[in-house]
Amino acid sequence: MASSFPSVQQLAAEARRVYGQVFGGDAPQVAVCAPGRVNLIGEHTDYNQGFVLPMALPLVTVVVGSQTSGQDVTIVTATEEADEPRRVDFSLPSDGSPLSPGLPSWANYVKGVIQHYRAPPVPGFRAVIASSVPLGGGLSSSASLEVAFYTFLQQLKPDDGDKVSKAVACQQAEHTHAGVPCGIMDQFVSVFGREGHALLIDCRSLEATPVPLADPGLVILITNSNVKHSLTGSEYPMRRRQCEEAASILGKASLRDATMKDLEEARARLDDVTYQRARHVIEEIDRTARAAEALKRGAYKEFGKLMVESHNSLRDLYEVSCRELDELVSAAMEVEGVFGSRMTGGGFGGCTVTLLQAHAIDRTTLHIQERYSGTPTFYVTTPSEGARALGL
Ligand code: ADP
Ligand code: GAL
Repeated sequence: MASSFPSVQQLAAEARRVYGQVFGGDAPQVAVCAPGRVNLIGEHTDYNQGFVLPMALPLVTVVVGSQTSGQDVTIVTATEEADEPRRVDFSLPSDGSPLSPGLPSWANYVKGVIQHYRAPPVPGFRAVIASSVPLGGGLSSSASLEVAFYTFLQQLKPDDGDKVSKAVACQQAEHTHAGVPCGIMDQFVSVFGREGHALLIDCRSLEATPVPLADPGLVILITNSNVKHSLTGSEYPMRRRQCEEAASILGKASLRDATMKDLEEARARLDDVTYQRARHVIEEIDRTARAAEALKRGAYKEFGKLMVESHNSLRDLYEVSCRELDELVSAAMEVEGVFGSRMTGGGFGGCTVTLLQAHAIDRTTLHIQERYSGTPTFYVTTPSEGARALGL
């Protein structure tokens, strides 16, 4: 019952077809892709310098294209859900002045990446984007677009190849050109993803440890609630500010450096909401480290329990869940063979991630479908490779 999605090769073929249709003439010289991600545990911890445990998905954004001789850029997205127009034309400023964000909004991610590319100036080019990552579904279609575009530019004019700096440049693009003050998780895992592994990322040191996740008896199920509440835009920056305020009251550089003992001692100096936000973050960082250890030992029951604790904390303390996500998690947890389930990503809609025994997949999707008040979409996924150039 899970949705099927096109392979990377099929997407690249589709992008090449659109390229031929729009530009005629020669075939594109370059093809690249970068994956979306699902976060297994460690939510709203990245911008607090904590741990996250995401994996790269087989759902990817592909970019195909060619360098041109002048300063002109044309980009077309083959994704119908993107806002109109789906073709943009602009000239690269020759005097180094910034490329300002504007409309259509999807082009801002590309402009941001050009702006923050680490080997300027970028040459003129033509490119087509195609993607299997659902847009705005909390699986980081935006980060996969940024990282795919950065990887595309690397083929036209190589930078020094430093991968951490690449992820940071893509995060900067999102900050300055999409106006989202996101953490580093999405771009980092889209760059560094490893087949058959989740990545335990330390968002303070920016070091990642691959954790094997390729047990054939296990399934990672993503359920898209297919709702997105507009709260995300304002609530995310507010959560960030509350965390910074809590850290500053505790006299710490970030909540990563704080313990529950520190928090309890400072309780009288924090209002209730700030206390709750900080408590979620401090406990979630610890939970994520423990979850990674459990996964290494193959202790799936323990891992699943931590997933549910994470969800409950996001719902009750951090207050970023919503009725639909809570319904999906409750429904999943009613099925025998399910180890754990939780909302994943920023919240207020988007997806849940569920860890279960492979043989329970059909009854799980069936039960969720019956119980959920909306219409879910399912993806059965495996940890996949990070951004890469594709052969043509
Ligand atoms: P998420 O990253 O979780 O999917 P966001 O709301 O942060 O959700 O980002 C989605 C936005 O990213 C889209 O509205 C669009 O502007 C842009 N985007 C992502 N993928 C594509 C694509 N294939 N073509 C054009 N724009 C895209
Ligand atoms: C995402 C954001 C990430 C991370 C996540 C919550 O939307 O892009 O950086 O903060 O929310 O864990």
